[in-house]
Amino acid sequence: MIEFREIDRNNLFDVIKLGVADGQKEFVATNLFSIAQAKAFPECICLSIYHDDILVGFTMYCIDYEDKEYWISRLMIDEKYQSKGYGKAAMEKLIDRIKEDKKHKVIYIFEPENTWAKHLYEKLGFAADGRVIEGEVVYKLEY
Ligand SMILES: CC(C)(COP(=O)(O)OP(=O)(O)OC[C@H]1O[C@@H](n2cnc3c(N)ncnc32)[C@H](O)[C@@H]1OP(=O)(O)O)[C@@H](O)C(=O)NCCC(=O)NCCS
Repeated sequence: MIEFREIDRNNLFDVIKLGVADGQKEFVATNLFSIAQAKAFPECICLSIYHDDILVGFTMYCIDYEDKEYWISRLMIDEKYQSKGYGKAAMEKLIDRIKEDKKHKVIYIFEPENTWAKHLYEKLGFAADGRVIEGEVVYKLEY
């Protein structure tokens, strides 16, 4: 079962040690970078991803400072635990969590360069909304 946990003194160092494969490093910032970013951008919410009590990944989302809408900014599953369905389950869980906020109706994400991730997001209902911001295609999921 996939579960989100806060990042605190119990797991910070383990979350920082999670990593993606060499060929995937260009697709996602390191968790160290993301956690540092969240310190300065308090709207960013960092969560660690556990599967049956084992730490497998990391995600970060926010209500954007400028457009005040939900954005999923990071998703990574450690190299060792990829292709077991955890990334998909974590995205579904995160979408469900955001959907609980009835004041909002849309979740944004940038089109990933990683084709696995692109396929995953499209399967979950994300589609291009027509905007390109700083060269990146914006995907949205309306709920
Ligand atoms: C993208 C990522 C989060 C997916 O997590 P995952 O746990 O490995 O993926 P899942 O096992 O849940 O599979 C989800 C989809 O990914 C694709 N996928 C997973 N493993 C794959 C593989 N070995 N080959 C091809 N596609 C694969 C499949 O399309 C799969 O969909 P399916 O269930 O219909 O087959 C993970 O691979 C990752 O951390 N990648 C590096 C970081 C990154 O690119 N993050 C996204 C941009 S921020």
